Amino acid sequence: MDLGLEGRRYVVTAASRGLGYATAAALSADGAHTVIAARPSASLDEALASLGPHAQAVPVDLTDVDAAEQIADALGAAPLDGVLVNVGGPAAGRALDYTDLQWQQAFEQVTLTTLRIIRTLAPRLAEGASFLVVLSSTVKEPIDVLAASNVLRPGLAMLVKDLANELAPRGIRVNGILPGKIATDRMITLTGGTQEGLAAVEADIPMKRLGSPKEFGEVAAFLLSPAASYVTGVLVPVDGGLLRSPW
Ligand SMILES: NC(=O)c1ccc[n+]([C@@H]2O[C@H](COP(=O)([O-])OP(=O)(O)OC[C@H]3O[C@@H](n4cnc5c(N)ncnc54)[C@H](OP(=O)(O)O)[C@@H]3O)[C@@H](O)[C@H]2O)c1
Repeated sequence: MDLGLEGRRYVVTAASRGLGYATAAALSADGAHTVIAARPSASLDEALASLGPHAQAVPVDLTDVDAAEQIADALGAAPLDGVLVNVGGPAAGRALDYTDLQWQQAFEQVTLTTLRIIRTLAPRLAEGASFLVVLSSTVKEPIDVLAASNVLRPGLAMLVKDLANELAPRGIRVNGILPGKIATDRMITLTGGTQEGLAAVEADIPMKRLGSPKEFGEVAAFLLSPAASYVTGVLVPVDGGLLRSPW
């Protein structure tokens, strides 16, 4: 299917590696122009080089208060066709073990960063464009020792619903995407980086394997594309069946 991405412009945040990069790669492969943002690193340079001549990189720490403005300033005047709103994942931990400061940092990193990106870039979106917010299966089911994600991601799921209503009259769609266990650097770290740890995670997934970043990126690219032009306010799991609930 032609997703209709040729020449369209997308911003993808937290995109030097992992899910963000995989989405930028899927968008670029279909002819889109992508602006990727992440902290300056060799990974960002490599990501930019691999995305082809129409890609642009914005070196930025997304937790900086003015990060979203830095991204907006780096864009030209042409309107955007969509944004993958992705941020670095919060630190692992149990709810009663985080200090107040750690809760505040997690809120800054996950919730406020997401809000700032959307608030700053919303005026730059063309009619028919969309935001796709990277959330997690924790929107529906908690994951052991990921308390900050369990607490904060469901709030962002409701932000998706809230903004889908608010921005629909402007012709802007807002959706969420819920990765289950996708084989990125972060996920490998969370499994403990051992064969036993990986096997235990895979055993709980009906498809009995982690998803690949490419499998995530292609679904994300579809949801961001004009091919999904009547899809807004939904949360789409990409999880090999991990979430047992249909809701
Ligand atoms: N992988 C999964 O299965 C899964 C499941 C559920 C939820 N998620 C969530 O999805 C998001 C992406 O996860 P991932 O697995 O792709 O992680 P990853 O492999 O660790 O990649 C994270 C990306 O975010 C960038 N990043 C991190 N902190 C940043 C910051 N402060 N400023 C700018 N860029 C930053 C990293 O680049 P630099 O560090 O070089 O800046 C990198 O490009 C996270 O929020 C994670 O919690 C992932």
